[in-house]
Amino acid sequence: MTAPTPAPSTVDRDRLARLMTAERERFARAHPRSGKLHARARASLLDGVPMNWMTEWASPFPLFVESASGAGFRCVDGHEYVDFCLGDTGAMAGHGPAPTIAAVERQMRRGITHMLPTDDAIGAGEELTRRFGLPLWQFTMTATDANRFSIRLARAITGRPRILVHDECYHGSVDETFATLDPGGRVVATDLSIGPPVDPALTTRVVPFNDVPALERALAHEDVAAVLVEPALTNVGIVLPEPGYHEALRDLTRRRGTVLVIDETHTICAGPGGMTARDGLEPDMLVVGKTIGGGIPAGTYGMTHAIGDRIRAALPPRADVGGIGGTLAGYALSLAAIRATLGEVLTEEAFERMIPLAERWAAGVDEVIRSRGVPWHVTRLGARAEYHFMPTPPRDGAEQMAHADHPLENYLHLAAMNRGVLMTPFHNMALMSPVTSTADVDRHTAVFDEIVGALVG
Ligand SMILES: Cc1ncc(COP(=O)(O)O)c(C=O)c1O
Repeated sequence: MTAPTPAPSTVDRDRLARLMTAERERFARAHPRSGKLHARARASLLDGVPMNWMTEWASPFPLFVESASGAGFRCVDGHEYVDFCLGDTGAMAGHGPAPTIAAVERQMRRGITHMLPTDDAIGAGEELTRRFGLPLWQFTMTATDANRFSIRLARAITGRPRILVHDECYHGSVDETFATLDPGGRVVATDLSIGPPVDPALTTRVVPFNDVPALERALAHEDVAAVLVEPALTNVGIVLPEPGYHEALRDLTRRRGTVLVIDETHTICAGPGGMTARDGLEPDMLVVGKTIGGGIPAGTYGMTHAIGDRIRAALPPRADVGGIGGTLAGYALSLAAIRATLGEVLTEEAFERMIPLAERWAAGVDEVIRSRGVPWHVTRLGARAEYHFMPTPPRDGAEQMAHADHPLENYLHLAAMNRGVLMTPFHNMALMSPVTSTADVDRHTAVFDEIVGALVG
């Protein structure tokens, strides 16, 4: 494990508290309708929200959205926002991309779900093969499901009990992945784990990102069915792989008979075929969700022919009800959305626009960090960028978490929101869509300069 360095005291805490109070008051004054809706919602929804994590935004109550289109949205109080959260990647294609809407409307009139394939499934599979290189695909409702099914299948074909994940990973609500390392290097449940079914030490091995010797030791037990990894961590800020890390991971998993599952749900921001295509990675299985349906629930997992053959040989009859599937998995509406979104929206040309926008965003943030003299830095992965409250890039998730600063993060998020800019909650990430503009990016830079200036100026 990396020994975490203590977070530097980057800001005056009294000033931060005063600014936060002022921003909370400003938000409450500017959003009376959202406030009233939230008060009413408390009578019928737990904590007044349709899903509990919506209470975690930096604002005193959530914004209620009136409508979203392109790279922005309007709240019920009539304020317009530039959206760099983009539904935490679910709306990376932009809000309501026309080809996706047209395909979905057409399919809705032809049958939303019927437990039978449509030819969109073939178009989607062929396009995924073209992008990621894997020949065989299955479809789910969410990336969580695609991860869950991949690790079940890996256990079925290897006969091994455990999976291996990176410390501070996030792969959706997959029980086995809510595991971390305690200071003694033992596997324990993360603080976030709600009602874990079993002790995760029974199901999971955990290694720090970029730690080849730890990986080697963990795989030597030869009890790991699957390594499930993001090729760069994106859920504790962006942590990039060091040169040679993926080669070592591939080599070790092959030698130890472990299935390598790469989760590209967020890292598809690196390019049309994610980091797998960009960096020539060779996963046995690959998961991607969220983006691919343009906002319609959709996830998928792909595999090599070798894995496909082993699955066919290992699965019992009636495997449809054995923990893999779901009535709406691979349903017609979702497949229509995937085919249109990948075929016509998140195209090669779209990435050629999105990636320079993220470069511009990162350059703007970097300039503010330098001119305001704060010991932070900005990292970018394709169309996604993020600032971290530490001067140099973290090597692994624990190092990043050691520099997390929630009060500071909350202030920056809320102050940005009050000035018409939405960042991804829980960290400092911005994602570009094909319809994000340079003006949107420059607006963020100006707002960031103003709010960091208020903090340290
Ligand atoms: C890398 C990764 N995989 C999987 C998921 C799960 O996606 P979903 O919540 O849509 O199932 C997430 C969600 O943030 C993710 O970041």
